Amino acid sequence: MTQQYRITLLPGDGIGPEITAVAVAVLKTIGQQFDLEFSFTEALIGGAAIDATGEPLPQATLAACKASDAVLFAAIGGYKWDNLPREQRPETGLLGLRAGLGLFANLRPATILPQLIDASSLKREVVEGVDIVVVRELTGGIYFGKPKGIVETETGEKRGFNTMVYDESEVDRIAKVAFEIAQKRNKRLCSVDKANVLDVSQLWRDRLNLMAENYPDVELSHLYVDNAAMQLIRAPKQFDTIVTGNLFGDILSDAAAMLTGSIGMLPSASLGADGPGVYEPVHGSAPDIAGQDKANPLAMVLSAAMMLRYSFDQPAAAAKIEQAVQTVLDQGYRTGDIMSPGMIAVGCQAMGEKLLAALGPAMQS
Ligand code: IPM
Ligand code: MG
Repeated sequence: MTQQYRITLLPGDGIGPEITAVAVAVLKTIGQQFDLEFSFTEALIGGAAIDATGEPLPQATLAACKASDAVLFAAIGGYKWDNLPREQRPETGLLGLRAGLGLFANLRPATILPQLIDASSLKREVVEGVDIVVVRELTGGIYFGKPKGIVETETGEKRGFNTMVYDESEVDRIAKVAFEIAQKRNKRLCSVDKANVLDVSQLWRDRLNLMAENYPDVELSHLYVDNAAMQLIRAPKQFDTIVTGNLFGDILSDAAAMLTGSIGMLPSASLGADGPGVYEPVHGSAPDIAGQDKANPLAMVLSAAMMLRYSFDQPAAAAKIEQAVQTVLDQGYRTGDIMSPGMIAVGCQAMGEKLLAALGPAMQS
């Protein structure tokens, strides 16, 4: 029987629409090959939504996402909307989507592909074989903590403040996700905090230690965030699974991404307790190259593969997409961001066509 899945597409801004088109074409082909039927609904988010409706996350978009089995999100933001007040900025739409769907667990793999090792700014021997997953808490911490704001003090000076706050239950649920991921990988979990300074981090560390009792096969370690940043650059292969809060995860996942040399290659998944997951490339909307057929669609395509694996439980279809990505790289095709001497330069659309060729005829098996 044909399996049916409803996917909400959020192309957003900048290069978003171009890379979304490639991912949709890949999904359609893989759907025919594996007898999966995808129905796509497109909705507005970010700057595109601001232009059309005045707000970055229209109710209709959140409703469409809630009514689907998974969400494929491309990127938001651009120069045009950079100077709007915070509530109207594209980023606020993304944070609203995360909160609205309860996506507390953000999985950001940083895997170095053998074909792209020389794209890394670090030495080959440091990065070869790097395979890390950053599990970032996504709906709490200082991003969402209250009180927050900018007020005027008695002296007439302005004061800005945010609150870094975690409840035990928020730490426990992300800890559980991280332990389970570590269990399926190399069974090493490193929790990153700032427990030498912050009370909220001490609570985080205590809960991680408590949770560890349920996972005797996983080796738990702790690092302070400053040291973790240093270790990621110094000796990244010591890491397997990293779990951390929202702000530290934002920073460390960018650092981990750059180990691989190519942020244009990295997918991510954001998951909640139930309801649809959101799958998105780690990179942004790249407004400088938008609409010029220069974007690298591979992170978006790999995000679609993650969707097949985590939300639809279709590991074979996911693996076939990942294999197709390896194939086009082996064939030497490169978009500008990962170009190196001797390789064949292609645009976004052509890269999509090469992927479809690597997947083979649609009506197979
Ligand atoms: C990310 C981004 C977002 C974040 C921004 C765009 C709000 O940097 O997904 O890492 O800070 O979470
Ligand atoms: Mg970030």
